[in-house]
Amino acid sequence: MAGPLKRIALFGATGSIGASTLDVVARHPDRFVVDALTAHSKVDDLVALCARFRPRVAAVADAAHYAALRDALAAADLPTQAMAGHEALAEIAADAHNDTVVAAIVGAAGVASTLAAASAGKRLLLANKESVVLAGELLMAAVAAGAATLVPIDSEHNAIFQCLPHRGGNADARDASVRRIVLTASGGPFRGWSRERLAGVTPEQACAHPNWSMGRKISVDSASLMNKGLEVIEAHHLFGVGTERIEVVVHPQSTIHSLVEYVDGSMLAQLGQPDMRTTLAVGLGWPERIEAGVAPLDLVAIGRLDFETPDSAAFPALGLAFEALRAGGSTPAVLNAANEIAVSAFLQRRLAFLGIPALIERTMERLPHLPSASLADRLAADAEARRVAASLLATMADATVRPA
Ligand SMILES: NC(=O)c1ccc[n+]([C@@H]2O[C@H](COP(=O)([O-])OP(=O)(O)OC[C@H]3O[C@@H](n4cnc5c(N)ncnc54)[C@H](OP(=O)(O)O)[C@@H]3O)[C@@H](O)[C@H]2O)c1
Repeated sequence: MAGPLKRIALFGATGSIGASTLDVVARHPDRFVVDALTAHSKVDDLVALCARFRPRVAAVADAAHYAALRDALAAADLPTQAMAGHEALAEIAADAHNDTVVAAIVGAAGVASTLAAASAGKRLLLANKESVVLAGELLMAAVAAGAATLVPIDSEHNAIFQCLPHRGGNADARDASVRRIVLTASGGPFRGWSRERLAGVTPEQACAHPNWSMGRKISVDSASLMNKGLEVIEAHHLFGVGTERIEVVVHPQSTIHSLVEYVDGSMLAQLGQPDMRTTLAVGLGWPERIEAGVAPLDLVAIGRLDFETPDSAAFPALGLAFEALRAGGSTPAVLNAANEIAVSAFLQRRLAFLGIPALIERTMERLPHLPSASLADRLAADAEARRVAASLLATMADATVRPA
């Protein structure tokens, strides 16, 4: 018996996590219906998804694409209502027509809809890690105030979620039985590379992850280890652990997705294929386990599990993230915003790979630490960091840009 239908609002439907979500949802028509789908600007892709899943509403964050969306939905003879703009996205996230929100927008742009879903007490499947880095304290307060259920959709945090004790539906590492959490990192496509070798890498190389197929921004973050840095900050907020209780270990096979160590010396790990459909099935079905379409692990074929210490000299982004988390206040928002500018410039070949952590570090040095607490303060820090990073980028470009 599947119980009452869950009504899904999927933010970032046209992305990689969006596709994995819809793959799992389509396997369970007796459990899930799609209430809302959103994208940034890819109207054709969004309308194709609407034709397949027939949601009540579809929205583009970029309001310039509203008319195209409305007309394409009408031309396809779909009953789906068109909406546009970030306020519309936040409205959909809070709408009582849906009970389950998948937050899979890339970047800090996802923060308003993520917070709205938490405040409205939804089951929140949270992939949009940048919004946690930007406003983690506010998000956790909104989850508590709205009595939302938060299931992390990062394979590492989802693994920790599965291994931790649960309180009121949410995982909590503050339990006295928990000693620490261990985040595993694949090491990305450049694991073992020297700084000299890293100097000339291209966006194509950075986006060719050895284990995971993901969007371009998170692929670059994985290659620079900033992804792990963002995940450390995310773990701190989601599970209530300080930096001294978070360890990062490189595990090239990406089979163990993360671990929790208990005071009795036990370590619990979650293992699985590097396929986000497992993670999404946990989020969609929890506490039930549902079919995800993922092949079973063949332990004998995997053969061995290796572990290494991260190379913090070649990949300074991880250390910068720990530094930002220790500083607190506005600094993680500055780190995240500078990283978004740096990754975008790298993907456009306006900044070399090693320029990514350099630009973030310079932006962090330029901006004062503000013990900001409100969302307005955090968004102001985010905007200022983007402005400073963009102007620093102009001064750095000559020294760091590489030919295509
Ligand atoms: N991919 C993974 O395996 C994975 C794993 C763990 C966590 N995550 C996290 O999940 C999030 C999504 O990652 P992804 O790999 O799925 O990204 P992606 O493939 O690049 O997709 C991003 C989605 O967000 C939309 N979007 C982009 N900019 C937006 C904006 N300014 N406002 C509203 N929507 C916007 C895109 O719409 P358009 O298509 O119209 O541009 C698209 O639907 C990221 O935070 C990432 O760190 C991803």
